[in-house]
Amino acid sequence: MVELSAMDYKPRPIDGDFLSRPNDYPVTGTHEGHEVRAEGTQRNDSEGKPYPTKFGIHGTYVAVDWESCIADGQCSDVCPVNVFGWFLRGDGQGGSGNDVKIEQGSEQWNTYRTDKIDPIREADCIFCMACETVCPTVAIKITPK
Ligand code: F3S
Ligand code: F3S
Ligand code: ZN
Repeated sequence: MVELSAMDYKPRPIDGDFLSRPNDYPVTGTHEGHEVRAEGTQRNDSEGKPYPTKFGIHGTYVAVDWESCIADGQCSDVCPVNVFGWFLRGDGQGGSGNDVKIEQGSEQWNTYRTDKIDPIREADCIFCMACETVCPTVAIKITPK
């Protein structure tokens, strides 16, 4: 868990229309079996300042905006089917408090700022919407199939 006040940017909510705006959010690759959109594209935070990272949006039906995600972890606490795992932790586990802690000013800080939650089991989602509701930065957009 990372305190929002400790961040040097102000996350903005994920763009809920990202799937219908392929010019702004083109598919730029895949990761752990899900699509990634707009990786490498400079985007701005809620104050209009450039985000320090360019990771894009991971997942399609369970989509996490990695610029918005600050490793709160409650999304994975509430998911009944264990869709999420921490990216930097790397062993498929999620859960608040289980993210990799990053020291401010370190090389990892410069690259990632925080661990990121990844929808590594996106296909298991039953669209209960709990993750979308609980995220404090509104980094998740669920689009039921
Ligand atoms: Fe889990 Fe969110 Fe789907 S809580 S079941 S990933 S809607
Ligand atoms: Fe990230 Fe929000 Fe989950 S900040 S870890 S997507 S609750
Ligand atoms: Zn991913």
